[in-house]
Amino acid sequence: MCGIIGYVGRRAAGPILLEGLQRLEYRGYDSAGIAVVDRDGAIEVLKRRGKLAQLTNSIGVMPNGGSGIGHTRWATHGEPSDRNAHPHTSSAGEVVVVQNGIVENHRELRERLAQAGVRCESDTDTEVIPQLIALALQRGLDFSAALRETLDQINGANAVVAVWRREPERIYAARRGSAGGIVIGFGEDEMFVASDLAALLPHTTQVHHLEDGDIAVVGVDGVSVSSRGEPPRQPQPTEVGLDPVAVAKGSYRHFMLKEIHEQPRALSDTIRGRARLSPPTVLADELTISDDLLRAISRVLIIGMGTSLHAAMIGRWWIEQLGGVAADFDNAAEFRYREPLLGPGVLVVSITQSGETIDTLGAMREAEQRWQSPQLTICNVPGSEATRIAEHVIHLRCGPEIGVASTKTFTASLAALYLLACRIGRARGRLSEAELADRLDALLTAPSLTERGLSAGDACATVAERLRGAANLLVLGRGIEYPLAMETALKCKEISYMHAEGYAAGEMKHGPIALLDDSFPVVALAPRGPLFDKMLSAVQQVRARGAPVIAIGDEGDAELAELANHFIGVPPAPPLLSPFSLSPVVQLLAYHLAAARGLDIDQPRNLAKTVTVE
Ligand code: F6R
Repeated sequence: MCGIIGYVGRRAAGPILLEGLQRLEYRGYDSAGIAVVDRDGAIEVLKRRGKLAQLTNSIGVMPNGGSGIGHTRWATHGEPSDRNAHPHTSSAGEVVVVQNGIVENHRELRERLAQAGVRCESDTDTEVIPQLIALALQRGLDFSAALRETLDQINGANAVVAVWRREPERIYAARRGSAGGIVIGFGEDEMFVASDLAALLPHTTQVHHLEDGDIAVVGVDGVSVSSRGEPPRQPQPTEVGLDPVAVAKGSYRHFMLKEIHEQPRALSDTIRGRARLSPPTVLADELTISDDLLRAISRVLIIGMGTSLHAAMIGRWWIEQLGGVAADFDNAAEFRYREPLLGPGVLVVSITQSGETIDTLGAMREAEQRWQSPQLTICNVPGSEATRIAEHVIHLRCGPEIGVASTKTFTASLAALYLLACRIGRARGRLSEAELADRLDALLTAPSLTERGLSAGDACATVAERLRGAANLLVLGRGIEYPLAMETALKCKEISYMHAEGYAAGEMKHGPIALLDDSFPVVALAPRGPLFDKMLSAVQQVRARGAPVIAIGDEGDAELAELANHFIGVPPAPPLLSPFSLSPVVQLLAYHLAAARGLDIDQPRNLAKTVTVE
């Protein structure tokens, strides 16, 4: 979840590192730092707790030097402070390191260092890395060997980038496990290293991703990569197709607001070419999974975390109803430590916008190595680890998502799941050709449903203004809207810091109803559908306890509007497609709640965009 940037070239490294860190701000962080190396090997380390601006403002004279490394830290071991910020140095200051991941056995390694007479200065797990490298260098190892030996002593998934005083024109980068990837960027007489592509895009689209176990030696004129036991090789870069312009915020106040409004386009792009009506075909050209396999499976398990898990919950509805096969969802972090009893007959579908969430990757590996389950991943980042573990991939086509709170990748994941459900349903004979055409036809309305949902922005702002002082919020839904109630609550928690819970409305009377009084607002997701009457009776029960009700339902639903204190109308959706019309509305509600509370919407406290630690 931390951000890493490295540079070596003919230009001054300092400003490039700071600008790279700015592009990584969206990942979330609580301190930042850079180390710049000059031609003679003098290394200057500058680091500060807080936002990048605090670091930048603290720099009087920019250090001189053509190489260096930078980092945005999200505290795990040791409080956010100047001292604990990266980069970390060895005691003599000759080895400087930034790291992404966790050194799980850092206590034991600290003791080992203490026995060798080395005292760590910070509270971090990271600092053991430069100290161990320095000890190995003292024994006469070259830097690559010292780095490899150090990594061999460390438990846990880690990405490490280092500079050494003796080799001022080199950066070393190493990857162990999947604590976020490391990508090498190729420029003209300059090279870059970064934890993700966003930091490289203004400079280059020619990249190479390090694999687990790789160590890269990066110099002005290229990179040499060695894997365990293999001779070093010079990898050729590949071109990535992300548009740097798409990374900019444009005229929107926040990336989150921009991304909420980008949903119709992200949906169209994700569906484009994958849902054809005549003859009706779905995911025909690209899905590498065979119809034979889809017929043979006995179950689909969908895994993810956070917002992606909520997409999984909605996906289960579609895969059961349209796909005609048993489906379940699971939290990836729990799944990986259970005895989940899979096998080659269970298709594991993972959802991860970043493709780097450590729990989801861990679960995928468990499913692959232990159970030999076929795997499909739904992911927004080409080349990310998830896309490399899974044999089959549905790429979302959202472009970069910068706001920490996922929005467009959520609805695009839904579109991908719906397409997959249709494909399974057709392969298994659950859907006739005509039924498939009807379902796909309905899906093609998703972008416009979402577009029309966006017009509820003003109504959401008005309601948010009324809710801004509330301490708690209960969000109710039933059926396919229940996961969306959980997603609404998650969004409210994440960016407005309001305590919110999403519940299945039928569950309310089994406990949560005890909380309700006139200070406890309730949001009811109640579009017309098979369970509408049951939602209506839940709303009546809420009103009877004096709790204010914000109902979100079909435009013009007078019955619901009359029962609620506030009513927000959304376009009526075809059967099973209400998540597309409701999602933008609940996202806008959470957004305006956070805005009314004056909060930092794109970088909420304690959160990271890519969660690469357990
Ligand atoms: C919520 C949010 C997180 C992510 C979760 C999984 O807005 O963004 O809950 O959904 O961390 O991330 P991915 O999808 O990258 O695996």
